[in-house]
Amino acid sequence: MIERIRVIGIGMGNPEHVTGEAAQALSSVDVFLVADKGSAKSDLVAARQRVCDALIPADHEYRVVEVTDPKRGPDAERDDTAYRRGVRDWHAARADAYAEVIDGLDDGETTVGFLVWGDPAFYDSTIRVVDALVERYASAGVTVEHDVVAGISAPQLLAARHRIPLNRIGAPIHVTTGRRLVDEYDPALGDVVVMLDGGLACAELADAFPDLELFWGAYLGSPDEVLVRGRLADVIDEVQRVRAEARERHGWVMDTYLLRQPADSPNPFATHGFPEAGPLSDGVVTVRPTTAGDWQVVRDEHNNEESLRWDLFGGVYTDEQARQQAAQARREWRSGRAARFVIVDAATGEGAGVIGIMRMGPPGNGLLGYGVLPAFRGRGFTTRALRLVARWAFESAGLSLLELGHKADNAASGKVAVKAGFRAEARLPQRLPNPDGTRSDEIYYSLTKERFDAGGVG
Ligand SMILES: C[S@@+](CC[C@H](N)C(=O)[O-])C[C@H]1O[C@@H](n2cnc3c(N)ncnc32)[C@H](O)[C@@H]1O
Repeated sequence: MIERIRVIGIGMGNPEHVTGEAAQALSSVDVFLVADKGSAKSDLVAARQRVCDALIPADHEYRVVEVTDPKRGPDAERDDTAYRRGVRDWHAARADAYAEVIDGLDDGETTVGFLVWGDPAFYDSTIRVVDALVERYASAGVTVEHDVVAGISAPQLLAARHRIPLNRIGAPIHVTTGRRLVDEYDPALGDVVVMLDGGLACAELADAFPDLELFWGAYLGSPDEVLVRGRLADVIDEVQRVRAEARERHGWVMDTYLLRQPADSPNPFATHGFPEAGPLSDGVVTVRPTTAGDWQVVRDEHNNEESLRWDLFGGVYTDEQARQQAAQARREWRSGRAARFVIVDAATGEGAGVIGIMRMGPPGNGLLGYGVLPAFRGRGFTTRALRLVARWAFESAGLSLLELGHKADNAASGKVAVKAGFRAEARLPQRLPNPDGTRSDEIYYSLTKERFDAGGVG
């Protein structure tokens, strides 16, 4: 009768990679359930058997039950939603197959173990399937304990074999799959680890990013282990050849690789990001970069009659949306997409509104957006904030032209802009959408750095 399920990471199939904790866990299992994935992966089943033979004491009795893995449709042609649905169905079918074996356990067999290749946390569905099993037994009134024991994963072994850390100093690591790599690759991701890559997707990046350094490894931890390292454009042909030969020999290949930007490549954030800014103040109004804690100001500036009247979409922000907007302001700042400030009443420290520069259009241009809360309207706060932010944009952020626009009927917005030194340049017919599906003309304003430097602005 089932009492406990243990999910045990066994590293890359070499008994020497199994941690002491995992070895102990192996010796507590009565029945191992192993997915039988067909003959191509039989080497992996054999490797698991070797781990058990080497580490489980001879006097501990256990059984290994191979459970035929349910069939899975092809991944390549499916979109993301269909892919996720397919995987979910497949997990459910797996849970059914395992439950059938568990229901037939002998009386003395209380602990079931799953041997997970590498570490259960990396691209492995065992934990999810076990969660489903535990839930299924709970709903039948049977409590099943479960735990997870860590193992050495392919990315860890890749790094160890190449004698490198996976990240550059203080930078992020992005772990992804071959099917996503080309869509999501961006130098701003930092170092990228790729797993589950049936077709060496990094070859598609070689023209665009030839200088990336590739650290590739296949059959890591096994006697057939093979490593290649070098500039992507230089080594990609060799990796393709080595990989194809190995696949021919074994019938399957498991490889993992790291794509690293060369050490002398510029930090993508430093190149494009806005410079850091402290609070800017004229004594009456202070503007400071938006942080996650400013979400209520973001929400309240938007969710009031006057703002919604001129909004392009007309929907109110939920608290969650406002929280997300405020929270992503730091990232937008660092990536150079937008510099968003909160307008603060200098006398009280109260949040009075928001003002932001979005980097849109030709290089050196910034598009301004702003608004103050109803309680602070009519006090000149927006004009003051615009002046502070314009000075920062020209003198510190390297912008040459600031632009803004408002719906033709929103005269108040235009007055504020003109007081801050902006000049109305044009009426752009039907440029802005309205929530009811109609469109409004936009009055377009600009302020050049030249005019600002010439003293056109307070
Ligand atoms: C289903 S995932 C399982 C990952 C595993 N849980 C881990 O911690 O590494 C399978 C992928 O892991 C990587 N992988 C597994 N074993 C490997 C090995 N011996 N050498 C290189 N990569 C391996 C490959 O990218 C493979 O496509």
